[in-house]
Amino acid sequence: MKYKMMSRLMASAALVCAGASAQAADVEVLHWWTAGGEAAALNVLKEDLSTKGVGWEDMPVAGGGGEAAQTTLKARVASGNPPTAAQLLGMQVREWAQEGALGDLTQAAEAGGWADVVPGALKDFAMYDGKWVAVPVNIHRPNWLWINAAIFEENGLTPPTTWEEFNTVAQTLKDKGITPLAHGGQPWQDATVFDDVVLGIGGADFYRKAIIEADMDALGSDTMVQVFDQMRTLRGFVDDNFSGRDWNLATAMVLNGEAAMQLMGDWAKGEIIRADMVPGEDILCVAAPGTEGSYLFNTDFFAAFDVSDDNRDAQMELASAVMSPSFQEAFNLVKGSIPARTDVSPEKFDACGQKAMKDIVEAEGNGSLLGSLAHGHGQTSAVQRAIFDVVTEHFNSDMSSQDAVEELQIAVESAAM
Ligand code: GAL
Repeated sequence: MKYKMMSRLMASAALVCAGASAQAADVEVLHWWTAGGEAAALNVLKEDLSTKGVGWEDMPVAGGGGEAAQTTLKARVASGNPPTAAQLLGMQVREWAQEGALGDLTQAAEAGGWADVVPGALKDFAMYDGKWVAVPVNIHRPNWLWINAAIFEENGLTPPTTWEEFNTVAQTLKDKGITPLAHGGQPWQDATVFDDVVLGIGGADFYRKAIIEADMDALGSDTMVQVFDQMRTLRGFVDDNFSGRDWNLATAMVLNGEAAMQLMGDWAKGEIIRADMVPGEDILCVAAPGTEGSYLFNTDFFAAFDVSDDNRDAQMELASAVMSPSFQEAFNLVKGSIPARTDVSPEKFDACGQKAMKDIVEAEGNGSLLGSLAHGHGQTSAVQRAIFDVVTEHFNSDMSSQDAVEELQIAVESAAM
């Protein structure tokens, strides 16, 4: 009897093992794409992979901007159980590569000729030590201002192109009882607005010095004082319930006419499309005030984590699928971003997507294509967090601009050490 049970147990263990290897073509992907437009875009990937026989094990960690996802990922890696792949922003790719946690996608990259079509700014993050460690899914632009066209028309307003114009338009709306700015009070959203204000008031060279180079003089400059002044002004243009609001709920306020504008990356376009509204017509897209001609960017990468042999084929399949031109087109049409390769036609993209594709080429040419701080391409995670803390503290208190600038210098200096 005992023997029979033993052999039954062994047989079922063998089946489990066979099952495990039969599913070697599954990918477990950790990501934070849980809002409507994000999830719809992710479905494009899941479906694409299923046609290639690659199964999808979903590991969603809700939370815009991906902070919660990073916490979960760290715990998974620390416990020796990393996912097959994880959504990461550029600096996170670099930092995980430095930790030695990433695999090598170079074989897929060479077979697919990625080096010829992926823009240099993205390659800098996707490659580490001469190897491809991550594959870029998209290029997002965080410095957009989204405008409810009907509200502007009814009130005889034109889209603002400078912060001064923005303040005038916003005050007019506020006086009429309309919430000028939809905002979600979460550190990454505060920082998304801060990115726009630094770039819009200081210009591309100032953004480069203050953010990318963390230059102490730039961080402590009068220009930075003006930036915090503008942040304080913006605080007066949001509604009373902004604290903690998710970004997609803020976008919804603009779509349903509860607020006139939102400063947000073009993942907001995913929500516009899902609401059956037309980007560029119902909801206007203009560069955030003062930032026309410059392009802040952030890219979502899928990085190869679990480096065991079992999962290598599935990782390569995922990477190759992501880089295919047809996938890049299909995915980015839904996500609101533009393709991470230079050879996809703009033809099928809406007015905002076509503007993005044109603007990025112009910005690259004039040296104003810059990594977004709020979205993991401007600074190390430590310095990014330090800046987030000051920006959020200032936004939610009566801290003076002068004090904020001093705190900023201290925070960045200690985080950079
Ligand atoms: C960004 C990410 C986008 C979008 C957004 C809000 O950091 O790159 O793909 O999802 O967060 O969650």
